[in-house]
Amino acid sequence: MPKDFFGGISSVFKDKDMVQIDYVVDEDRIIGRDEELESLAQSLYPATNGSKPSNCLVYGKPGTGKSLSVKFITQKLKEKAGENGYSVGIAYVDCSQSSSETDAVIRIAKQLNDPDLSDVHIPDTGLSTGQFYQRAWKAMDAIHDISLIILDEIDKHHAYDDLLMTLSRAGEANKLTDSSLGVIGISNKPRFTDKLNERTVSSLGERRHVFPPYTANELKKILEARKDAFYDGVLEEGITARVAALSAREYGDARKAMDIFRYAGEIANENQSETVKDEFIDEAFERAERDEILEVISTLPHHSTLVIQSVAALAADRDTEKNPITTTEAYNLYQRKCSIEEASPLSERRVRDLLEEAEFLEIITRNTKAAGKAKGSRTIITLVDDPEKTLEACKLVEPND
Ligand SMILES: Nc1ncnc2c1ncn2[C@@H]1O[C@H](COP(=O)(O)OP(=O)(O)OP(=O)(O)O)[C@@H](O)[C@H]1O
Ligand SMILES: [Mg+2]
Repeated sequence: MPKDFFGGISSVFKDKDMVQIDYVVDEDRIIGRDEELESLAQSLYPATNGSKPSNCLVYGKPGTGKSLSVKFITQKLKEKAGENGYSVGIAYVDCSQSSSETDAVIRIAKQLNDPDLSDVHIPDTGLSTGQFYQRAWKAMDAIHDISLIILDEIDKHHAYDDLLMTLSRAGEANKLTDSSLGVIGISNKPRFTDKLNERTVSSLGERRHVFPPYTANELKKILEARKDAFYDGVLEEGITARVAALSAREYGDARKAMDIFRYAGEIANENQSETVKDEFIDEAFERAERDEILEVISTLPHHSTLVIQSVAALAADRDTEKNPITTTEAYNLYQRKCSIEEASPLSERRVRDLLEEAEFLEIITRNTKAAGKAKGSRTIITLVDDPEKTLEACKLVEPND
């Protein structure tokens, strides 16, 4: 008889998708965001009648329901406008995954275009950024009355200023002639607009929407509304309350709650346990914490990981308040790591660029300190997260490891 590879595997999950971060739930499972959804609806309302909606900037700490709420409300808006006979196109860009302005414009153009309806072809490469914009405008005009462009994690895009500027000016200078455009930027950096060029801020003329953290009780309700991700009876008593309490420890973070909830189920499966037990929660919490660092580090090139690993190794070994880490020390250790791997090290100047990038991604911070009389100044590096957790995350992304 042929072997049944799947026969012996069982799972506590009935519908695991429901506890994945990107899953967009229905209204009855969205808890405690009524005010935020209503205020977004207010800003976007004109689009239901074919008019230009307000541009929006949505802020709030990680896991406060920004991405979910914006995806949900824009979908509802599209349906409502459709009932009124207007076509709304939605483009969603996760800016942390978009490498350049051109890349973002290609993603936007492809989502808003339909070659059967527009006669516009959007190639993968081969045009200038300006030409891609031209094609995007043409597709929008041909197909939609209103286009909504959601730029999620906008602060992580290297060209956010240019993108926002060009998109918010699309209505002028005959770029869009038969349609209008609304931009929704999402960020978990409250001071993000401080970084924007004044001209961008004024042409964006946006409405701001602030998402506060959840209470432990709201987190509990959010999880309870996803219980049917699991088979009946597999969740032990008190699991949702425990996960909610842990996720509210720093501040009410639904992303962390969802991650811990999902991991607790995965750990149950790994242990071939029929139920999700309280004792799995601590490990699930550890995995969720490690994930936060891993998510950022996994996007970096290998030499950046080596540099961060060097900083973390130095930080793990000493009291950095008293004895801070200098760029030179990090570079020396990085060189040693390269020689162990038999890789040729990058120049110190290039490593400084990588550190600048790591600072942009908020993995480290850098400060200039006076080094004492006649010694000039030196740059001090501080690791943002826990050194041990950072080292663990670096190990996980190492090639051939
Ligand atoms: N009010 C809510 N009701 C139900 N589920 C929620 C709610 N808020 C968040 N969630 C769930 O929690 C997880 C994180 O939410 P979301 O991705 O929207 O957060 P975010 O504010 O965009 O965070 P980040 O800044 O980290 O991207 C998702 O799985 C989402 O479905
Ligand atoms: Mg988000």
